Amino acid sequence: MAVLPIAQIGEPVLRERSREITRDELLAPETQSFIDDLIETMRHAKGAGLAAPQVFRPIRVQAIEVGDNPRYPYKPKIPLTVLVNPKLTPLTDEVFLNYEGCLSVPNLRGIVPRFVGLRVEAWDRFGEPIDREVWGLSAGTFQHETDHLDGTIFVDRVTDPRTFCTWDTFRAHHEAAFVDRVRALVARFGG
Ligand code: NI
Repeated sequence: MAVLPIAQIGEPVLRERSREITRDELLAPETQSFIDDLIETMRHAKGAGLAAPQVFRPIRVQAIEVGDNPRYPYKPKIPLTVLVNPKLTPLTDEVFLNYEGCLSVPNLRGIVPRFVGLRVEAWDRFGEPIDREVWGLSAGTFQHETDHLDGTIFVDRVTDPRTFCTWDTFRAHHEAAFVDRVRALVARFGG
């Protein structure tokens, strides 16, 4: 396994629509080995998720995992999930305000509205179907990663640019209020 370089904002690959892959391509040893590297890179960078175009490979594959993550100590845990060719369908019009960051956007966070509930349809890394609902804060993570497959970065969705902050100023001035909102969300939807 290998830790791959992560594309930073400004790289054209982050602005492309990544392409679907076939089941045969997914099951090829080279793709399986790439998925191992994607997971390794996500864990090494302590990300909550990583999409293939973020490591310079514009295919519709993403990994999500939230354990005890020092970047996001308030996040509900999400077991390792690999989504291939994902389709997200909002289950409600209701949105919540998520403070997001991204491994492709160094030291910047901002508030993004995200749907509170989604249907997630995809293949897993072996081509088996996934069809499940995701609610609450975790739904924001799935939307953020799937956006990458369409060339969208969270900064595009920040509705009030005055919410931009660094990781340090987030901790100093915004984290406490955000964590209160997150707790309310987790209390409603679990996590
Ligand atoms: Ni990202």
